[in-house]
Amino acid sequence: MVEYLKIVYVRGRQVLDSRGNPAVEAAVTVRNCIDGELTEGRAIVPAGSGIGGREAAEIRDGGDAFMETDVKTAARNIEKYLQEPLAGTEVTDQRRIDHILRETGGRENKEGNLSGSGANALLAVSLASADAAAKALHVPLYRYLGGVQGQKMPVPMMTVIDGGAHADNSLDVQEFMIVPVGADSMAQGIEWCCEIYRTLKKILFNRGLATSVGDEGGFAPNLSTEIEAVNFMMEAIHASGFEPGRDVCISLDVAAGTWQERGAAGNREGKEDGAPWKERGNGDYCMPKQKRCYSSRELIQEWEDLVERYPVFSLEDPLGAQDWEGWLELTQRLGDRTLLVGDDLFADAHLADAPGENARERLQRGIQEGCGNAILIQPGKIGTLSEIMELAQLAKEHGYRAIISHRRGESEDSFIADLAVALNTGLIKTGAPSRGERTAKYNQLLRIEEELYGQV
Ligand code: PGA
Ligand code: ZN
Repeated sequence: MVEYLKIVYVRGRQVLDSRGNPAVEAAVTVRNCIDGELTEGRAIVPAGSGIGGREAAEIRDGGDAFMETDVKTAARNIEKYLQEPLAGTEVTDQRRIDHILRETGGRENKEGNLSGSGANALLAVSLASADAAAKALHVPLYRYLGGVQGQKMPVPMMTVIDGGAHADNSLDVQEFMIVPVGADSMAQGIEWCCEIYRTLKKILFNRGLATSVGDEGGFAPNLSTEIEAVNFMMEAIHASGFEPGRDVCISLDVAAGTWQERGAAGNREGKEDGAPWKERGNGDYCMPKQKRCYSSRELIQEWEDLVERYPVFSLEDPLGAQDWEGWLELTQRLGDRTLLVGDDLFADAHLADAPGENARERLQRGIQEGCGNAILIQPGKIGTLSEIMELAQLAKEHGYRAIISHRRGESEDSFIADLAVALNTGLIKTGAPSRGERTAKYNQLLRIEEELYGQV
């Protein structure tokens, strides 16, 4: 390959995420071999909730293993361990960069995936390299990543109510989203969602409910059931002048794995209160806050009832990541009516029953067995940019939708906005239209749409 834009420096630093937690930022500087100009690209990779110890960290230096759990050290290790192998590499050769990153910094850990701070440091370098390449070439990031093909504006899946691990309220479903399926453009979709979001705030306020927001910017009221939350969303959609189903649909991220893991407080009849879910022995789902328990079969029935009554666009992790049988049954019953999105199903690196599997293998298993029909792609859970792209491609080849997603802890970095357009996935999930780290992505999408299609 002709050397044109060579990597000269690779640096890391610890910065903040939206929750005041440490996050890894990488900076990659390249030199233009023709005119000597230096350009720096940057990327921040924040952490998520991490269930089942997913955020535990292990990074390795060739054969010389070292364990690092803190972000500061992982950030420092970027320079210490990656500067030398990457220096001189052509920055547009992303596959080579990612290969070097995997070889040098991140042998797969024993659970099969890169994870934790070390993995975040590698991903930050991977993304920062693409950012540097785009800047040095003076093209927008989405165009660098997607070329001529990358031009489909995604439909935003906007969180309006937070629950589960994302808020200290009474709701057990993690995210309640609205999806403006009938909007003609990104800008219109965002406008509709903002209107509904503001209307919802008024509705909640008028009922004396809290309108403070959770980690992803959704309101976090104390309600007695999830259905009450869905009804409030429906009311807000109607009151804003939209027709549910035609203009705007509803999506949930259940994160049902957390109902199994943290189901210790559940109280199913005949089962001891406080028993860890594993000791229940039957894979029950116990809502940790509302203390209602379901068997996999009962929960599937709940989802079927929901899809019958409401315009449900998608259900994310409606069952736990070990419940393949349940997923198959659910997909057979609802797969032609709604998107069944695997997030933890495909990308949880610490599944007790799946040592050695990674997201690609798990998606392949899902495809083969007919479990789910969509995948959530959160860069923070997948190794490098090349792997993210391969995963999206694999999904596409098998008719699975791919949703590019933010994480619970986020930053002002808007890489995923460009990535969603570049990969033509048609869907992005990046929180509420509030909190700067969420609006950073929506604002970037507005800029991209204007650039691609003019002012709409
Ligand atoms: P996270 O996941 O909390 O791990 O970032 C958010 C999600 O499940 O969508
Ligand atoms: Zn999720």
